[in-house]
Amino acid sequence: MNEDPQQQPATVRLRGTLAAVPAYKPGKPASGPAGGPSYKISSNENPYPPLPSVLEAITTAAQQVNRYPDMAVTALTEAIAQRFNVASERVATGTGSVGVLGQLMMITCEPGDEVVYAWRSFEAYPIIAALAGATSVAVPLTDAAEHDLEAMAAAISARTRLVLICTPNNPTGPSISGAALRDLS
Ligand SMILES: Cc1ncc(COP(=O)(O)O)c(C=O)c1O
Repeated sequence: MNEDPQQQPATVRLRGTLAAVPAYKPGKPASGPAGGPSYKISSNENPYPPLPSVLEAITTAAQQVNRYPDMAVTALTEAIAQRFNVASERVATGTGSVGVLGQLMMITCEPGDEVVYAWRSFEAYPIIAALAGATSVAVPLTDAAEHDLEAMAAAISARTRLVLICTPNNPTGPSISGAALRDLS
């Protein structure tokens, strides 16, 4: 092999950590009734059209794409903080919960740090953890397909940076009560 970089074809070097990233497996498309459309309910598709109020909000926002958005997401952050009676500093916004989770991983995890989550749970968790270079600590669900909160608490180590709780758990369904969450924290 010619080691001279001048002689090598130009190529993109990907981060080594990508080798550890499991491929995302999307749900299979549903087969609809003959001739009719099908909806991926498992991917949150809805057979009903958007509500008029939602369409109106999107239309209004589309009329302002010539402006830079508010980077601090002030109005939404304050509305959420008021609704849940928490300080606005405790509210994080993003492009969906996966976007927020990616941000949390970026600000908390260095390679070798641990992220504890239940398994089987949401497909994206091992992918985002691997992208951050973090080590996944996957705690098996109970026989009732629920989070085993005791086992998850026991799995927390000095290297743990995040504990992910999925409620209701995708794909098994059980949800976790507020009291159980408070006990865990
Ligand atoms: C548990 C869970 N988190 C996140 C998502 C993705 O949605 P979003 O990032 O828009 O919140 C899904 C989608 O089905 C999900 O089931």
